[in-house]
Amino acid sequence: MAEGSWIRRMFEEGAELKKRYGEENVFDLSLGNPIIEPPAEFFRELKKLAEHPQSGMHRYMSNAGYAETRAAVAEQLSLETGIKFTLNEIIMTCGAAGALNVVLKTILNQGDEVIIFAPYFAEYVHYIDNHYGVARILPTDEQFAPRLDALEETINKKTRAVMVNSPNNPSGAVYSEEKLCELGELLRKKEAQYGTQILLISDEAYRKLIYDNLQYPFPLHHHTQSLITTSHSKDLALPGERIGYIAIHPECREREELVNGFIHVNRTLGFVNASALMQHLVRNLQSVNVSVAEYQQKRDSLYENLTGMGYSVTKPQGAFYMFPKSPLEDDVKFVRELQQLKVLTVPGQGFGTPGYFRIAYCVEDRALEDSLPGFRQMAEKIGLV
Ligand SMILES: Cc1ncc(COP(=O)(O)O)c(C=O)c1O
Repeated sequence: MAEGSWIRRMFEEGAELKKRYGEENVFDLSLGNPIIEPPAEFFRELKKLAEHPQSGMHRYMSNAGYAETRAAVAEQLSLETGIKFTLNEIIMTCGAAGALNVVLKTILNQGDEVIIFAPYFAEYVHYIDNHYGVARILPTDEQFAPRLDALEETINKKTRAVMVNSPNNPSGAVYSEEKLCELGELLRKKEAQYGTQILLISDEAYRKLIYDNLQYPFPLHHHTQSLITTSHSKDLALPGERIGYIAIHPECREREELVNGFIHVNRTLGFVNASALMQHLVRNLQSVNVSVAEYQQKRDSLYENLTGMGYSVTKPQGAFYMFPKSPLEDDVKFVRELQQLKVLTVPGQGFGTPGYFRIAYCVEDRALEDSLPGFRQMAEKIGLV
């Protein structure tokens, strides 16, 4: 708790500033809480269900989730990946966070290692710790792609899983096909060396939010000992509704035992399966998405403005975050100074990567525009231009 979460800390300090100066005078780019409303199709389904409720639709269910919903997820995923998923590979969960915790609880023995790459979603470390695993944190390169030389040195017989997150929170990086291909080869080599199974966990919470017509390179294409954890928090803008799923690769060894483990844990971790109502709703929304163009427009405008001011930014290819280099060596100091100008961001330290800061641009255009004078003032003060 003392280490805390930088995201939460900035959020709470921001709330204080808003009280003091008024909501409209503080530009909060600290939280990945999308302002975009769910698509019209979501409300159409909601209305349909409210007007024509089905008998038993709010009762307990099989802990894997409704067969019809799992079949709909499998069908869409098969279409997107070309891998033949059936409902037997799908477990509905309480968001991506629920999915990750179910997976980690199922696969980890005490002391097993899980490799993650910095910058990473800060909660990963807590999730791994929840289930007595050990997080091994490895660096990425200048483009925020995993450093495979470090991975090769770190994998050992206790390595149970490697977690990847593309598009990435906080960098917005989308891992390339080539990088994933090399990653898969390395995992297979190490599995053969140690006689183990190394699961590739692909956290795809932002899979549908990618830009410039990029085709999403699926990590599952490059390692069969793998699974997806994801949710509709971002693609349908439903983060408060807690609806997501696990999809395990059909060719994964001991798939049935793993799936039975996931189902058991989905019941015993305390949340007892995904919300019934949300499962009924998302069944018919598998091919629906929020407007990616709207996020892309925000990314383009912010990127052009910041680079024009002299900030060093790797252009994000997906998600709704930007992770510029901190112009001051001390990213906390920079973020604090920016905070004085009523612009709220999060220091890179909060993602295991000091020397950077994160901007969440899933906010109103007005908030983004109004934050620019603060960024400009800092750039001028530091002498960036
Ligand atoms: C990378 C990443 N994984 C998982 C999650 C958790 O998603 P959910 O809210 O669906 O549990 C988030 C939430 O922001 C995230 O950024």
